[in-house]
Amino acid sequence: MLSREENELLTLVHAGTPMGRLLRRYWIPALLSEEIPNPDCPPVRVRLLGEDLVAFRDTQGRIGLLDEHCSHRGTSLFYGRNEECGLRCIYHGWKYDVEGNVLETPAELAGSQLKNKVHHNAYPCVEAGGLVFTYMGERDEIPVFPTYAWLGVPQNQIYIAKSLLECNYLQGLDGDCDSAHLNFLHKMFKPDARREFLRHEDQSPAFEIDEMDFGFRVAAIRKIGPDKSYVRISQFVMPFIGCVPVGREVDGKLDGFKAVYQVPSDNNNTWRYDFFFKWSKPMIKEDSSKRDFVGADYRKLRIRNNYLQDRQIQKTVNFTGIEEFLNQDACATESMGPIVDRTKEHLGVSDSYVIQVRRFLLKALRDLEAGKPPPGLVYDSGKADFSRIRCDVAYLSSNVSWRTLFEDKSSETGKA
Ligand code: FES
Ligand SMILES: [Fe+2]
Repeated sequence: MLSREENELLTLVHAGTPMGRLLRRYWIPALLSEEIPNPDCPPVRVRLLGEDLVAFRDTQGRIGLLDEHCSHRGTSLFYGRNEECGLRCIYHGWKYDVEGNVLETPAELAGSQLKNKVHHNAYPCVEAGGLVFTYMGERDEIPVFPTYAWLGVPQNQIYIAKSLLECNYLQGLDGDCDSAHLNFLHKMFKPDARREFLRHEDQSPAFEIDEMDFGFRVAAIRKIGPDKSYVRISQFVMPFIGCVPVGREVDGKLDGFKAVYQVPSDNNNTWRYDFFFKWSKPMIKEDSSKRDFVGADYRKLRIRNNYLQDRQIQKTVNFTGIEEFLNQDACATESMGPIVDRTKEHLGVSDSYVIQVRRFLLKALRDLEAGKPPPGLVYDSGKADFSRIRCDVAYLSSNVSWRTLFEDKSSETGKA
């Protein structure tokens, strides 16, 4: 349970709010690379942290992310002409480059200095792993771009499912920090080959949670013999990434995992990116079946129709009567309403990780107010090491701690 004030602190993300300020200190996903696939292709609208923006890829392949409304008199640049290294407004032809410089004001008299007096708001972008990331904060506080392991694998070993979650990002994030729901919301009544890890489900796991500089590391430990444990390690990475071990194991090792980004579009909507990858081999067609559950605008096809819940399937096939885990997650979180009233919750032991993550975020807000840098950010590229941010599974002797899997890195601040 949170106070009304705490709930507002955590959930409101528009410019000028405390959480809006915190989130603007991080590199965050803005869109998929494939939404602007080629130089001079049509621009797309991007709503991010309550701001209306337009993304385009210029003639040289550079990406621009500009305020949607033209600095001249406000026409949407979404309708603009993407040509010759700039985006040109259709109303009077003002042309902008990817940095927001006004290149031309063709309706003005020759020699006009107007274009030199105006700067259009633009955010820097970096492309990695099939995503376009942006930084929306002050330019003198820009951190090193975090090259997480999953952003460095070949593109054909990556699959990203993008969808619009029609509620506040914290409801999505709460779900990512809540493994208790796996055995209910996502339960199949028949064994599901895709969820190999549930074969150990009858041994209810013990959880060990370490607070890290970047968020949390969580180990779910199941005893599978007198002297053996099966450990699954997840991570929460600031500001809204949940890394979970999914996918097949190859020789007892996890062949990739999933990083889920819950990116606020505005206070009431969230861009959810499920970033799957394999270390060893390309994705195959069946890996990408999750794409079928959204339309071209990434809105779910099942939402206004009660997620096409089938009461017969609910009796015989799965716990919800709803197909596809992303729809199941969406139903659970969207049906709370746009921003759930957390003053009315009744939290139990199974919510302890959710509680810790919320506390971590509240502390980050307080620290930011006090002038301290946000957690997990690196400002010196010589000190950047993102390799320790990863999921794992391991079969360990009972006298061996799972923490030894991460011991090679000395810069950790985890508390045992
Ligand atoms: S409104 Fe865009 S050029 Fe006039
Ligand atoms: Fe889920």
